[in-house]
Formats: sequence, C-alpha cells, structure tokens
Amino acid sequence: MQPNAGSQGEYAGLLAIKAYHESRGDTDRDLCLIPSSAHGTNAASAALAGMRVVVVACRENGDVDLDDLRAKIAEHADRIAALMITYPSTHGVYEHDVADICAAVHDVGGQVYVDGANLNALVGLARPGKFGGDVSHLNLHKTFCIPHGGGGPGVGPVAVRSHLAPFLPGHPLADELPDEHTVSSAPYGSASILPITWAYIRMMGAAGLREATLTAIASANYVARRLDEYYPVLYTGENGMVAHECILDLRAITKATGVTVDDVAKRLADYGFHAPTMSFPVAGTLMVEPTESESLAEVDAFCDAMIAIRAEIDKVGAGVWTVEDNPLRNAPHTAECLLVAEWNHPYTREQAAYPLGKGFRPKVWPPVRRIDGAYGDRNLVCSCPPVEAFA
Ligand SMILES: Cc1ncc(COP(=O)(O)O)c(C=O)c1O
Repeated sequence: MQPNAGSQGEYAGLLAIKAYHESRGDTDRDLCLIPSSAHGTNAASAALAGMRVVVVACRENGDVDLDDLRAKIAEHADRIAALMITYPSTHGVYEHDVADICAAVHDVGGQVYVDGANLNALVGLARPGKFGGDVSHLNLHKTFCIPHGGGGPGVGPVAVRSHLAPFLPGHPLADELPDEHTVSSAPYGSASILPITWAYIRMMGAAGLREATLTAIASANYVARRLDEYYPVLYTGENGMVAHECILDLRAITKATGVTVDDVAKRLADYGFHAPTMSFPVAGTLMVEPTESESLAEVDAFCDAMIAIRAEIDKVGAGVWTVEDNPLRNAPHTAECLLVAEWNHPYTREQAAYPLGKGFRPKVWPPVRRIDGAYGDRNLVCSCPPVEAFA
C-alpha cells in the first residue's frame, strides 16, 4: 500500500523484481523491455530502479511487435530483468498476444510488470496473474474512486505474485529491508485515502465492479462508433472494438484544414466540456476515456459537441472561415473577448459562446484564452509577489 502514485508503484515493483533477481544470484539482469507505446513513467521508473531500457517496437495497428520482441529477447536473454507492459495497451486495445508476450519473457527468466493503470478495463473480467503478470500497480486514482487530476491524490498499491512478496517495500524503520527498498516514509502510503477505495469496493460488490468495467468498455465503444465517421478511431482490436478508451485521429484533418488538436480541445470548453487527453499516446490525437461514471446523456452530449465541432472544421476546410479567424482558433472564448462593443469576427458572439444554443449545457468560462503551453512547461514563472510587497 506504500506507493502514492502509479509511477511510484512501478518503481516499487521494479525494485522488488531487482531484489528477487539479486537474491538468486542473478545480478547481471539489468535490462527492462518497454514497448514504444508505454507511458513515459515506465522508462523513468526503470531508470530510477537502476535498469537500462530496451524499447520494443509496435506494429502499425498499435500492438507490440512480436517479432521485434522475440529478436530483443534473443539478443539480451540473460540480461533481461523485466518487461513492462500495459494491458489493455495505452492505445486502448486488448492485445491478442499478451499471454504469449509474457510467456516469452518468462522463458528467459525475466519478470513481467503489468502496468495496471488501465485496470478499469479488467476489474471483474481478467486476472493479470493468469495472463502472465508477476507485478502490477493499481492506480486507485483511476479505477477505484480516488479523484485524479486537479491535484487529486495518487495512490498506487502494488500487487505481486507470492515469489516477489518478500521484496516489497516495507516500513523504513521497522523492517529489515535495505533503505533503497523504501518508496515512501509512510508504511501504508496515503492511509487516509485508502478507506475511500475500501468503501467503494464494499459498496459496489463483485458484481457491481464487473458492471462498472463493462459500462466503461461499452461507453468507449459507443463513443468510438458514434465519432468514427467524423474523426477516425486510430486503433481497434481484431474485432473492430476498443477497450475502455479510444483514440480519435485528427492528423489528417489538421493536414487538410489547418485546424489543430489544440483548437478542438480549446473549443470544447465553449461547448461546456473539459477536453479529453491530448496528444498522448499519439501526438495530434485525442484519447477519450468516458469511464463508467458518465451517463449516456453525458456521453451523448460529448459526441454531439464533437460532431458539431467537425462541422465547424469543415467550414474552415471549405474556406467559409479562414484558418486564422474562426471559432476554433479563437477558442476558448472568454467573457472579456465577447463583451465588446465592436465584434470583428466572421461568426457571431452567439456562435462563439453557445454554438449549440443556450439550452445545450453551460459553457465553461476560462479566465484566459490561449497560453503558450509548451513555453510555460519549459519556463516556470513564480507568480508570488515578492516579500517586500507585503511590507
Ligand atoms: C499507462 C500509465 N502508466 C502509468 C501512469 C502513471 O501513473 P501516475 O500518474 O499515478 O504516476 C499513468 C498515468 O496517467 C498511465 O496512464
């Protein structure tokens, strides 16, 4: 229970794997295989745990490239400590070959770390230990009712198969583990957060948890089916279905019209939505994960907004609006930009603020319009007044 984030869980799990290999005298195993589709934390955790990362390629359909995996395994067999794999993948697909992938790593003595960030597509349906996982962290802040985002607390308990249990982090003072096994100085991590998850599990019950998973999967597939003709869904499984999330590919739209994924994300605020994940895991795309907690009405409203936005994009494509001056590029519309005596845009103020009418849903009123996000990420600016200001 110690790790306070998924990434800390990865770190804890990899430390357990490392200590396990060392306990068997297998001290040369320092390589961690990670598919190119993985979340950035996977490679960072491996590096922090003292492992070297070997990237495994993905096929065009987004799945792990089995040929490349087998080639890397053959090349590095005795050095492989672990494979980290996300299931369902960050591409939102249940990979058909996951059991074979895990078995291939086990065959050469490696351990399999299943990144459990997508556990809300598995709970009640599948057991990571059965398809080959040795370790997994569970992002309670994604699957088990802990708020995520807006600075919400992360919690990433780690589950292991029994052979790894002795190597899990313990209490930094009470246990006899070496110091480097400690991931947090609190033995039970965010102990005050855990009762929420406990209560959620107790109240949902096994059947309820399974239903939540099925609802999340049904919702994602519903979004994928409704939106595919407007924004192609990038990856699907063999049967044309997605898992609990779908990636909407805007890259061809951007190429043809100049409207970017940022424009669409910002425009969603005018329609009353916070944008879904942008440009992860694929740049220029949106990844939609409705989860089990959004009602059909909410999912439908989101699809309606996205379809209406596509019609706006087409107006830019057809030259009705220029790429520089249209409701997408100017989004989000703030009160300040709308409350002006003189309005000089080729669309109305009503179209800007209430594109689907006032009855659709409340517009989000951000205090600022566009900021240079990339610049901001690289140039942290302290906005606190200097101490002298309080004198
Ligand atoms: C696939 C995957 N792995 C790992 C993580 C890391 O989890 P955390 O943000 O709790 O560190 C995330 C988080 O978004 C994720 O999506």
